[in-house]
Amino acid sequence: MPRSRRKFDIDEFVRECLQAWEADGAGAVKDVLDRTLGRGCAPVRECFGDPREAHLQVLYPGPELVIENMVWAPGMSYPAHNHNTPVMTGVYAGLEVNDFYHQTRTRKGGRLQRTATVDINEGQAVLMAHDAIHRIANPNRRTFTGAFHIYMGDYLHSSRSIWYPDEAAETPATFAVTKDIFAAANRDLAAARAADAEQELHKKKAAAGTGVLGGSTGPGSASGPPSGPSASHPHAATHSAPHAPARGPSRRGSRPPLHLPGDQ
Ligand SMILES: [Fe+2]
Repeated sequence: MPRSRRKFDIDEFVRECLQAWEADGAGAVKDVLDRTLGRGCAPVRECFGDPREAHLQVLYPGPELVIENMVWAPGMSYPAHNHNTPVMTGVYAGLEVNDFYHQTRTRKGGRLQRTATVDINEGQAVLMAHDAIHRIANPNRRTFTGAFHIYMGDYLHSSRSIWYPDEAAETPATFAVTKDIFAAANRDLAAARAADAEQELHKKKAAAGTGVLGGSTGPGSASGPPSGPSASHPHAATHSAPHAPARGPSRRGSRPPLHLPGDQ
Protein backbone atom coordinates (compact mmCIF):
# COMPACT_ATOMS: atom_id res chain seq x y z
CA MET A 1 0.00 0.00 0.00
CA PRO A 2 1.45 3.44 -0.91
CA ARG A 3 2.46 5.52 2.10
CA SER A 4 -0.15 8.18 1.30
CA ARG A 5 -2.92 5.58 1.52
CA ARG A 6 -1.93 4.32 4.95
CA LYS A 7 -4.99 4.59 7.19
CA PHE A 8 -5.01 6.94 10.14
CA ASP A 9 -5.88 5.23 13.40
CA ILE A 10 -6.90 7.38 16.37
CA ASP A 11 -5.88 4.87 19.02
CA GLU A 12 -2.48 4.34 17.42
CA PHE A 13 -1.94 8.11 17.16
CA VAL A 14 -2.85 8.63 20.82
CA ARG A 15 -0.59 5.75 21.87
CA GLU A 16 2.34 7.15 19.88
CA CYS A 17 1.85 10.62 21.38
CA LEU A 18 1.76 9.25 24.94
CA GLN A 19 4.84 7.11 24.41
CA ALA A 20 6.71 10.05 22.90
CA TRP A 21 5.69 12.32 25.78
CA GLU A 22 6.90 9.84 28.39
CA ALA A 23 10.15 9.20 26.53
CA ASP A 24 11.22 12.67 25.48
CA GLY A 25 8.63 15.38 26.15
CA ALA A 26 6.99 17.93 23.87
CA GLY A 27 9.58 17.79 21.10
CA ALA A 28 9.02 14.08 20.67
CA VAL A 29 5.24 14.54 20.57
CA LYS A 30 5.68 17.13 17.85
CA ASP A 31 7.79 14.61 15.92
CA VAL A 32 4.82 12.22 16.05
CA LEU A 33 2.49 14.96 14.83
CA ASP A 34 4.90 15.98 12.04
CA ARG A 35 5.28 12.36 10.99
CA THR A 36 1.52 11.80 10.95
CA LEU A 37 0.84 14.88 8.83
CA GLY A 38 3.89 14.09 6.68
CA ARG A 39 2.31 10.83 5.63
CA GLY A 40 -0.48 12.91 4.09
CA CYS A 41 -3.60 14.56 5.52
CA ALA A 42 -6.07 12.63 3.40
CA PRO A 43 -6.08 9.54 5.67
CA VAL A 44 -6.84 11.76 8.69
CA ARG A 45 -9.72 13.44 6.86
CA GLU A 46 -11.04 10.07 5.74
CA CYS A 47 -10.97 8.86 9.35
CA PHE A 48 -12.97 11.81 10.66
CA GLY A 49 -15.26 12.13 7.63
CA ASP A 50 -16.88 15.26 6.19
CA PRO A 51 -17.92 17.83 8.80
CA ARG A 52 -21.36 19.36 9.06
CA GLU A 53 -20.76 21.66 12.02
CA ALA A 54 -18.02 23.22 14.10
CA HIS A 55 -17.10 20.95 16.98
CA LEU A 56 -14.48 19.81 19.41
CA GLN A 57 -13.69 16.15 19.92
CA VAL A 58 -11.50 15.01 22.80
CA LEU A 59 -9.40 12.13 21.54
CA TYR A 60 -7.54 11.72 24.83
CA PRO A 61 -8.57 13.56 28.02
CA GLY A 62 -5.31 13.49 29.99
CA PRO A 63 -3.95 13.90 32.55
CA GLU A 64 -0.56 13.39 30.86
CA LEU A 65 -1.60 14.99 27.59
CA VAL A 66 -4.88 16.27 26.23
CA ILE A 67 -5.41 15.52 22.54
CA GLU A 68 -8.26 17.20 20.70
CA ASN A 69 -9.65 17.24 17.19
CA MET A 70 -10.83 20.77 16.44
CA VAL A 71 -13.20 21.53 13.59
CA TRP A 72 -13.63 25.21 12.77
CA ALA A 73 -16.65 26.24 10.71
CA PRO A 74 -16.19 28.40 7.58
CA GLY A 75 -15.40 31.94 8.69
CA MET A 76 -15.36 30.99 12.38
CA SER A 77 -13.04 32.55 14.92
CA TYR A 78 -12.24 31.58 18.50
CA PRO A 79 -11.39 34.49 20.84
CA ALA A 80 -7.99 35.13 22.39
CA HIS A 81 -7.20 32.69 25.20
CA ASN A 82 -4.29 31.19 27.06
CA HIS A 83 -3.47 27.59 28.06
CA ASN A 84 -0.86 27.82 30.84
CA THR A 85 0.77 24.79 29.27
CA PRO A 86 2.71 24.22 26.04
CA VAL A 87 0.40 23.33 23.18
CA MET A 88 0.88 22.28 19.59
CA THR A 89 -1.42 22.62 16.63
CA GLY A 90 -1.26 20.45 13.54
CA VAL A 91 -3.62 21.22 10.66
CA TYR A 92 -4.92 18.35 8.53
CA ALA A 93 -7.60 20.26 6.58
CA GLY A 94 -7.75 23.89 5.48
CA LEU A 95 -6.01 26.78 7.19
CA GLU A 96 -5.82 27.98 10.78
CA VAL A 97 -4.81 31.62 11.25
CA ASN A 98 -3.34 32.32 14.67
CA ASP A 99 -3.04 35.85 16.05
CA PHE A 100 -0.63 35.96 19.00
CA TYR A 101 -0.83 38.51 21.81
CA HIS A 102 1.24 39.94 24.60
CA GLN A 103 -0.52 40.88 27.81
CA THR A 104 0.48 44.05 29.61
CA ARG A 105 -0.68 44.75 33.14
CA THR A 106 -1.68 48.25 34.13
CA ARG A 107 -3.46 49.67 37.11
CA LYS A 108 -6.64 49.50 35.06
CA GLY A 109 -6.15 45.80 34.41
CA GLY A 110 -4.65 43.59 31.69
CA ARG A 111 -4.48 44.65 28.07
CA LEU A 112 -3.79 42.57 24.99
CA GLN A 113 -1.48 43.70 22.25
CA ARG A 114 -1.23 41.69 19.05
CA THR A 115 2.36 40.73 18.33
CA ALA A 116 2.25 38.30 15.40
CA THR A 117 0.03 36.40 13.02
CA VAL A 118 0.94 32.89 11.96
CA ASP A 119 -0.81 30.89 9.27
CA ILE A 120 -0.81 27.16 9.92
CA ASN A 121 -1.53 25.49 6.63
CA GLU A 122 -2.64 21.97 5.96
CA GLY A 123 0.19 19.58 6.81
CA GLN A 124 1.96 21.99 9.17
CA ALA A 125 2.42 21.80 12.93
CA VAL A 126 3.43 24.53 15.37
CA LEU A 127 4.52 24.26 19.01
CA MET A 128 3.47 27.18 21.22
CA ALA A 129 5.00 28.23 24.54
CA HIS A 130 3.21 27.68 27.85
CA ASP A 131 2.39 31.40 28.14
CA ALA A 132 1.12 31.86 24.58
CA ILE A 133 -2.11 33.81 24.10
CA HIS A 134 -3.72 33.34 20.74
CA ARG A 135 -6.86 33.88 18.73
CA ILE A 136 -7.80 31.30 16.09
CA ALA A 137 -9.66 31.85 12.84
CA ASN A 138 -10.68 29.92 9.78
CA PRO A 139 -10.65 32.65 7.13
CA ASN A 140 -12.16 30.45 4.45
CA ARG A 141 -15.85 31.22 3.93
CA ARG A 142 -16.56 27.95 2.15
CA THR A 143 -14.62 25.17 3.85
CA PHE A 144 -14.01 23.80 7.32
CA THR A 145 -10.63 23.70 9.03
CA GLY A 146 -9.56 20.58 10.89
CA ALA A 147 -6.66 20.50 13.34
CA PHE A 148 -5.14 18.48 16.16
CA HIS A 149 -4.53 20.47 19.33
CA ILE A 150 -2.28 18.70 21.81
CA TYR A 151 -1.78 20.14 25.30
CA MET A 152 1.11 19.11 27.54
CA GLY A 153 -0.52 18.30 30.84
CA ASP A 154 -3.93 18.21 32.49
CA TYR A 155 -5.29 21.06 30.39
CA LEU A 156 -8.96 20.27 30.84
CA HIS A 157 -8.69 20.84 34.58
CA SER A 158 -6.34 23.81 34.54
CA SER A 159 -7.18 27.43 35.29
CA ARG A 160 -7.16 29.57 32.15
CA SER A 161 -8.48 32.82 30.68
CA ILE A 162 -10.37 33.79 27.58
CA TRP A 163 -10.91 37.32 26.32
CA TYR A 164 -14.60 37.21 25.57
CA PRO A 165 -16.71 38.77 24.17
CA ASP A 166 -13.87 41.14 23.24
CA GLU A 167 -10.19 41.64 23.89
CA ALA A 168 -10.85 43.98 26.80
CA ALA A 169 -12.77 41.36 28.77
CA GLU A 170 -10.58 38.73 30.43
CA THR A 171 -12.76 36.04 31.95
CA PRO A 172 -12.24 32.46 33.16
CA ALA A 173 -12.23 29.97 30.28
CA THR A 174 -15.09 27.62 31.06
CA PHE A 175 -17.02 24.90 29.32
CA ALA A 176 -20.04 27.22 29.12
CA VAL A 177 -18.10 29.94 27.29
CA THR A 178 -16.69 27.47 24.78
CA LYS A 179 -20.14 26.01 24.26
CA ASP A 180 -21.55 29.49 23.56
CA ILE A 181 -18.83 30.21 20.99
CA PHE A 182 -19.38 26.96 19.10
CA ALA A 183 -23.15 27.35 19.24
CA ALA A 184 -22.90 30.89 17.80
CA ALA A 185 -20.60 29.65 15.01
CA ASN A 186 -23.05 26.90 14.11
CA ARG A 187 -25.94 29.36 14.12
CA ASP A 188 -23.96 31.55 11.71
CA LEU A 189 -23.28 28.50 9.56
CA ALA A 190 -26.97 27.59 9.47
CA ALA A 191 -27.86 31.17 8.53
CA ALA A 192 -25.27 31.15 5.73
CA ARG A 193 -26.67 27.87 4.41
CA ALA A 194 -30.20 29.27 4.49
CA ALA A 195 -29.06 32.38 2.63
CA ASP A 196 -27.33 30.20 0.03
CA ALA A 197 -30.44 28.08 -0.39
CA GLU A 198 -32.58 31.19 -0.81
CA GLN A 199 -30.16 32.61 -3.36
CA GLU A 200 -30.15 29.32 -5.25
CA LEU A 201 -33.94 29.25 -5.29
CA HIS A 202 -33.98 32.83 -6.56
CA LYS A 203 -31.60 31.85 -9.37
CA LYS A 204 -33.74 28.88 -10.33
CA LYS A 205 -36.82 31.08 -10.45
CA ALA A 206 -34.95 33.64 -12.54
CA ALA A 207 -33.71 30.88 -14.84
CA ALA A 208 -37.24 29.53 -15.24
CA GLY A 209 -38.41 33.03 -16.12
CA THR A 210 -35.63 33.34 -18.68
CA GLY A 211 -36.71 30.03 -20.19
CA VAL A 212 -40.27 31.26 -20.69
CA LEU A 213 -39.07 34.47 -22.27
CA GLY A 214 -36.64 32.52 -24.43
CA GLY A 215 -39.49 30.32 -25.57
CA SER A 216 -41.18 33.30 -27.12
CA THR A 217 -38.16 34.08 -29.27
CA GLY A 218 -38.16 30.90 -31.27
CA PRO A 219 -39.36 27.34 -31.46
CA GLY A 220 -37.82 24.81 -29.10
CA SER A 221 -35.84 27.24 -26.96
CA ALA A 222 -37.95 26.74 -23.82
CA SER A 223 -37.46 22.98 -23.90
CA GLY A 224 -33.84 22.94 -24.97
CA PRO A 225 -30.94 21.13 -23.32
CA PRO A 226 -30.32 21.76 -19.62
CA SER A 227 -27.63 24.31 -20.30
CA GLY A 228 -29.57 27.37 -19.26
CA PRO A 229 -28.47 30.00 -16.80
CA SER A 230 -28.97 27.79 -13.75
CA ALA A 231 -26.92 24.81 -14.88
CA SER A 232 -24.13 26.89 -16.30
CA HIS A 233 -23.98 29.57 -13.67
CA PRO A 234 -20.39 30.03 -12.55
CA HIS A 235 -21.45 29.97 -8.90
CA ALA A 236 -23.24 26.67 -9.19
CA ALA A 237 -20.26 24.67 -7.96
CA THR A 238 -19.36 26.89 -5.04
CA HIS A 239 -22.85 26.91 -3.61
CA SER A 240 -22.59 23.31 -2.63
CA ALA A 241 -19.31 23.74 -0.80
CA PRO A 242 -20.53 24.66 2.68
CA HIS A 243 -23.12 21.92 2.59
CA ALA A 244 -20.91 19.11 1.37
CA PRO A 245 -17.22 20.06 1.57
CA ALA A 246 -14.98 18.02 -0.64
CA ARG A 247 -12.84 17.13 2.31
CA GLY A 248 -12.45 17.72 5.97
CA PRO A 249 -13.09 16.36 9.42
CA SER A 250 -16.30 15.27 11.03
CA ARG A 251 -17.90 14.35 14.27
CA ARG A 252 -18.85 11.11 12.52
CA GLY A 253 -15.43 9.67 13.35
CA SER A 254 -14.89 6.16 14.57
CA ARG A 255 -14.93 7.51 18.12
CA PRO A 256 -17.77 9.70 19.37
CA PRO A 257 -16.86 13.03 20.96
CA LEU A 258 -16.45 12.87 24.72
CA HIS A 259 -18.06 16.27 24.88
CA LEU A 260 -19.33 18.28 21.96
CA PRO A 261 -18.57 21.06 21.85
CA GLY A 262 -16.41 21.25 24.91
CA ASP A 263 -13.51 22.92 26.53
CA GLN A 264 -10.99 24.34 24.10
FE1 LIG B 1 -5.56 27.55 22.06
